[in-house]
Amino acid sequence: MKFFIDTANLDEIRQAKDFGLIDGVTTNPTLLSREQKDWRKQMQLVCQEVDGPVSLEVIGTTADEMLKEAKELVKYGPNVVVKIPMLMEGMKAVRKLSEMGIKTNVTVCFSPVQALLAAKAGAAYISPFIGRLDHLAQRGMDLVEEIVTIYRNYDFQTEVLVASIRHPLHVAEAALIGADVATIPYKVLFELAKHPMTDLGIESFLSDWKKSFGE
Ligand code: G3P
Repeated sequence: MKFFIDTANLDEIRQAKDFGLIDGVTTNPTLLSREQKDWRKQMQLVCQEVDGPVSLEVIGTTADEMLKEAKELVKYGPNVVVKIPMLMEGMKAVRKLSEMGIKTNVTVCFSPVQALLAAKAGAAYISPFIGRLDHLAQRGMDLVEEIVTIYRNYDFQTEVLVASIRHPLHVAEAALIGADVATIPYKVLFELAKHPMTDLGIESFLSDWKKSFGE
């Protein structure tokens, strides 16, 4: 399973990268709005910071607008994946971009048929938003399971990129289902390593060592 980090913050990207666990980055307009005003510069810096794929999202809602923006976004680096919102106009843009050899990540996906459309259009990634579904008392992970089944049934190459992750259980369940990628917030990435029994185990090993052999 690939791990992407869901942030546009350079410090978070650098720190996560230091642990050697990050395969790529996903950003969105909200995440970029929390960084410097010069969003173009920020996009460029993020793309330079990582070797793996970086999703940069378009703002337009018509295929023409999206295609125009996509052509600008890919200039930020060879690793740019253009994030396209789940709209019929978006599907048109995904098809054209895929024919041009430009990778896309179809975002704001909330249903299995939306994911089916994205795969048929030639998207490289589909991003189901699971946390936002959980908040509406709908199981986000059921959506991931349905998408994985549909893609397996027809051997679609579109990768399932689980987004809107809130906690480590989301990552565990996505991995059990066989999702290709989890895009993980910085805080959750560190929570993945935590277990109180691990802390207690390490503490007792170190204290036994100290008692017998000193510092
Ligand atoms: O980047 C897309 C997605 O992960 C957004 O998540 O936390 O805004 O629901 P969130």
